[in-house]
Amino acid sequence: MYQTLLVSLEEHILTVTINRADKLNALNKSVIGELGKVFDDVYSNPDIKAVILTGSGPKSFVAGADISEFSSLDAKGGEALARHGQETVFDRIERCPKPVVAAVNGFALGGGCELAMACHFRLASATARFGQPEVNLGLIPGYGGTQRLTQLIGKGRAIEMLLSANMIDAATAHQYGLVNHVTTAEELLPTTKTILQTILSKAPLAVAGCIEAANAVYDEKVNGYDTEIRLFGELFDTADAKEGIAAFLEKRKAAFQAK
Ligand code: COA
Repeated sequence: MYQTLLVSLEEHILTVTINRADKLNALNKSVIGELGKVFDDVYSNPDIKAVILTGSGPKSFVAGADISEFSSLDAKGGEALARHGQETVFDRIERCPKPVVAAVNGFALGGGCELAMACHFRLASATARFGQPEVNLGLIPGYGGTQRLTQLIGKGRAIEMLLSANMIDAATAHQYGLVNHVTTAEELLPTTKTILQTILSKAPLAVAGCIEAANAVYDEKVNGYDTEIRLFGELFDTADAKEGIAAFLEKRKAAFQAK
């Protein structure tokens, strides 16, 4: 169904593998277009309850935007490329009401680091490397990297990475808080799935509420505390909150229905 992605749905977790290993899974127009289609499905298909993004092959998660597509771009084309990618893929990942996790299995450079950072959180294999090497090309990140790297690791560390183009290893990414867990290559997907299974046992609308409220911290158009107050209130009208509260009081396990 897809040319550049492998997609498999198991136990409501959609694993999306970017599959251009010969180009270290670089994000060309096809990958961006197909990721957009995947997220159309993620948003609309109730069977999909969580997403894992990873890269094919042992070497790379995503080694950036496809540089071979940059040669023909001018200012207008560059802006359009960045806007299209951010709106159709990166922002939709960040705003997705279902958890989206990056399992970073190797190089996460440029657009690859940005793709991982658009996810709600990240795990990495010990061989992962993160970097924003755009200044080597005379460019800056265009898929949200200047914003999300600064949010995730703080301005000083982010600016050093952006200006130097230096890569950091998985241990440093862990120390910086860029990734939550570092595993062996073999354990990366199983560990990611175990964490998602825990999340999928919770009330889905409450999970979505946590994502929306946490995102509000970084959204100038809304007040995060007001967003939290509104969502906290709205959730009391859900069947799942009634069930969760009753189950606690009756000392039984809650059965949530995403309602
Ligand atoms: N865009 C297009 N092609 C890319 C790519 C990218 N971002 N990253 C890697 N590739 C291609 C290489 O051109 C090469 O293709 P070829 O075999 O047809 O020549 C193939 O992937 C393998 O990469 P190679 O450079 O041979 O691997 P390496 O192990 O020597 O180096 C990297 C790995 C990641 C250090 C190196 O590929 C690199 O610096 N990539 C670009 C990273 C970057 O600047 N990303 C930000 C883009 S905005």
